[in-house]
Amino acid sequence: MLDVGQTLKRYMDKVIGPVEDEMRLVLGGTTERPRNLLEGMIHYHMGWRNAEMSQVTGPGGKRIRPVLCMLVTAGSGGDWEDAIPAAAAIELLHNFSLIHDDIQDASPTRRGRPTLWKLWGVPHAINAGDCLFALAHGAMYRLSARGVDAQRALRAARRFDETCVDLTHGQFNDMDFEVRAEVSVSEYLAMIDGKTAALLALCGELGALIAGVEEGTVLHYANFARDLGLAFQVKDDILGIWGKEDEIGKSAATDIATRKKTLPVLYGLSESTRLQELYRLRENGSDFVEEVIAELDAVGARSFARRQAERYSHSALEHLEAANPTGEAGIALLELSNLLLNRQA
Ligand code: IPE
Ligand code: IPE
Ligand code: MG
Ligand code: MG
Repeated sequence: MLDVGQTLKRYMDKVIGPVEDEMRLVLGGTTERPRNLLEGMIHYHMGWRNAEMSQVTGPGGKRIRPVLCMLVTAGSGGDWEDAIPAAAAIELLHNFSLIHDDIQDASPTRRGRPTLWKLWGVPHAINAGDCLFALAHGAMYRLSARGVDAQRALRAARRFDETCVDLTHGQFNDMDFEVRAEVSVSEYLAMIDGKTAALLALCGELGALIAGVEEGTVLHYANFARDLGLAFQVKDDILGIWGKEDEIGKSAATDIATRKKTLPVLYGLSESTRLQELYRLRENGSDFVEEVIAELDAVGARSFARRQAERYSHSALEHLEAANPTGEAGIALLELSNLLLNRQA
């Protein structure tokens, strides 16, 4: 799915298997059949089972976050294996957020397959998300068992919980903006900082924390990963409007139908009175999506958003340079950044 550089590929081949094993252990995913439907639904979402509960391989997502976390540990002189529990916990938290996000966004497709709520209904999908959220915390407890110093493990667990709060605020605002008439660009940035960048920042922060580097370097890694997350989300917003359905694994243009105030839309609203009119009307007309996209194209909203993504990309790479990761992991980190930042949008 990803066109990765050579050093990154070598790393991914080495580290993804152990994280996957760790997640399976935490989620009871090692047996032929799930113990019950709730567990099976979680395994389905993780890409380990199909809807009939047979074991399959993928699609389970790109696993960017755990790779990022472990690469930061290795690049800052630590042992990447120490970071496995945190990397697994972060990926599980990310997957929990996607289950609830698909309900909140009414998204029928994720990673090219029907979403949990589409297959098993909203109440069951909420429970599967809740269960995964709790199990993600369980994964964090395994840090000390791996020999990470207790104080460091406790600080990591506290930051994990604080990030859950940031994420929820971000998701709340994302929904709230759909019904609010006026949203500023800075409010939008704070929102994506919460819903997406905070979790990426946590990958950088915990990766560095586990390696035991000095505070200034921890901060550079966190900011590097945060900016990477901001650029990534802006690109995701662009793809959410102009991406091809078979390439992005989810239905295109639902962001427009649900009136998401993403960056291209905010820019469009500031530039076009026609767009303001369309968004003022309470009901969506049947050609609402087409009309909105045509107007966004006309005012150059896509290139505006691309330029903003570029700004964050640049800042991310400056922080990475300041953090100065060493060895092969350093090269792999640069390759991972380029991969995320060059995603066509
Ligand atoms: C999707 O993240 C949600 C956003 C933050 C835009 P990813 O694109 O990393 O999702 P998967 O895990 O690879 O499917
Ligand atoms: C991404 O939300 C962030 C979280 C899931 C917390 P989006 O709603 O923007 O992402 P996609 O487009 O559904 O992946
Ligand atoms: Mg959402
Ligand atoms: Mg969504």
